[in-house]
Amino acid sequence: MKRSAVYPGSFDPITNGHVCVTERAAAIFDEVRVSILVNVQKNATFSVEERCAMAREALSHLPNVTVEHFEGLLVDYVRSLGARVIIRGLRAMSDFEYEFQMALMNRQLAPEIETFFIVTDPKYSYISSSSVREIFQFGGTVHDVVPSGVFRRLRERFHRI
Ligand code: PNS
Repeated sequence: MKRSAVYPGSFDPITNGHVCVTERAAAIFDEVRVSILVNVQKNATFSVEERCAMAREALSHLPNVTVEHFEGLLVDYVRSLGARVIIRGLRAMSDFEYEFQMALMNRQLAPEIETFFIVTDPKYSYISSSSVREIFQFGGTVHDVVPSGVFRRLRERFHRI
């Protein structure tokens, strides 16, 4: 039986930190399904199609990784795939409270599904999608913290050449 893991998130946009976590998960699991939330409340900068396209491009070197999107409860989606593992990256203690609460909530909803945490490489521990967007909008440089396709789309989105 294939050992599948789901790596969910907003990925708005995918960063080098996400890529690193995906690579490490892909080395352990037979299949990793990067699953992008169609987020109705949050005002995403990129559409779900754009987020999927950027993630697919950034992860194209990993043959056992797929990128898809989902709506609704994560545990329902994980169950529908027949998977048993949720992957989340942990950057710092500041992530812990939110991640701990989410893992316990998901465990309450679906006790058969386990959350696995991958501790981010320290060189990516300060990167977040929101800081990438903000830094870029205010003229800062982000080309060393996002995949090249993401950098290109950021330039297009914010009209910078
Ligand atoms: O990258 P993010 O925004 O931190 O990812 C959060 C995500 C998508 C994993 C989380 O919001 C989620 O799973 N949403 C789906 C709805 C759900 O299942 N909520 C209950 C989890 S507590």
